[in-house]
Amino acid sequence: MPPVTPPKTFRVKSFGCQMNAYDGERMADLLSAQGIAPAPEGENAELVVLNTCHIREKAAEKVYSDIGRLVKAGDEAGRRPLIAVAGCVAQAEGEEIMSRAPAVSMVVGPQAYHRLPAMLEQALRGERASDTDMPPIAKFDALPARRRSGPSAFLTVQEGCDKFCTYCVVPYTRGAEISRPFKDLVTEAEKLVEAGACEITLLGQNVNAWSGEDQAGRAIGLDGLIRAIAKLPDLQRIRYMTSHPTDVTDGLIAAHGEIDKLMPFLHLPVQSGSDRVLKAMNRSHTADSYLKLIERFRAARPGIAVSGDFIVGFPGETEAEFEETLQLVDTVGYAQAFSFNYSPRPGTPAASMDNHLSAQVMQPRLQRLQAAINRDQLAFNQASVGKTVPVLIERRGKLPGQWLGKSPWLQSVWFDGDHAIGDMVEVELIEAGPNSLEGRKKMAVAA
Ligand code: 5AD
Ligand code: SF4
Repeated sequence: MPPVTPPKTFRVKSFGCQMNAYDGERMADLLSAQGIAPAPEGENAELVVLNTCHIREKAAEKVYSDIGRLVKAGDEAGRRPLIAVAGCVAQAEGEEIMSRAPAVSMVVGPQAYHRLPAMLEQALRGERASDTDMPPIAKFDALPARRRSGPSAFLTVQEGCDKFCTYCVVPYTRGAEISRPFKDLVTEAEKLVEAGACEITLLGQNVNAWSGEDQAGRAIGLDGLIRAIAKLPDLQRIRYMTSHPTDVTDGLIAAHGEIDKLMPFLHLPVQSGSDRVLKAMNRSHTADSYLKLIERFRAARPGIAVSGDFIVGFPGETEAEFEETLQLVDTVGYAQAFSFNYSPRPGTPAASMDNHLSAQVMQPRLQRLQAAINRDQLAFNQASVGKTVPVLIERRGKLPGQWLGKSPWLQSVWFDGDHAIGDMVEVELIEAGPNSLEGRKKMAVAA
């Protein structure tokens, strides 16, 4: 590759989970610190980072079509962008990307992106650069302090996974479970609040496996970290995701009843309602033990919104086993949930199991499951109509004067008025759909 003139603008495009969104923000911080500016909306960037997701096949294939599109747009504009592939596809298929996509100059895994500036220098000299090492934690120490934040910020507290669910690539792409130190997290939370965050979502593939020592050297879990961060006076809301049923502690459940700033929302993936399938998935919980946990969260925080993840059509799933999943959905009454057809991932144990199901079998099951989830989601939202709730404005709506924000239960609420991003507004919920609610600013009553 010939040497390249340094890029003046960049764009980071993140796919997949919130952890990737967090990594994308941190890569943007790094590039900004190099004097490269975010490309204005709608304009081509001179450096593009594709921050990829490998969790399902469709997500992983996207990267190649995106590279093709970037090359084509660059050729039409007379300058191809420098392309970096980051994230879990980079980790899992780095070599393949290098040979299949000559337009890519940098491949950087999720544990190595603090080295992006050095890799960029290499790329500018015309050398292709690849780093998919997994040194634990080094990345966080090497990142610049947080200086920018929207009203709602992500904070990665834990990375990696030791659970080895048989369908999942995460233990291979993100490595072993690692908790960031308490002190670093409190400092990063403080910086985020100084930069304007009113809400912080603590992130981790198994966020409730976080463990550390507080300032007094006492061993604490996620609930202890939440309690410490709740002390920041200007921080109004705390959330966390994604949790694993096996790592739920009594302290975490109790925290929901005791800490006002901890929002009434729980994302607790279950994946299936069938104990046979859960065992084959290596989930280490049963449908019943999951339901008991939900009951305990509900007892600690009545009305808590429950969210989950489901996989339909795991190898060998029978019609009766799928119906156990529908039954579990009926029992829980999810406020929202994500559901996916099983997608075989290279190198995972489930990929080499017998009895893979065809799309013809999976697709109608997925549709039935999603219809059940939508029904419950709508019911949950309808039950909120008539309530007045605080909404944190995150962005403008489609129409002038319209605003979009989140209720404490993570419902999207839109309403009109004279406001600004970051305002917390008391809003009366007047109409419900399955994915959002319409609100009206609560008028002050004259004395
Ligand atoms: N196929 C389909 N869905 C998957 N997930 C993880 N791996 C797979 C796979 N191989 C889903 C799980 C997980 C969510 C992040 O993605 O439901 O909780
Ligand atoms: Fe994947 Fe299971 Fe770990 Fe979640 S708990 S990241 S599904 S292996």
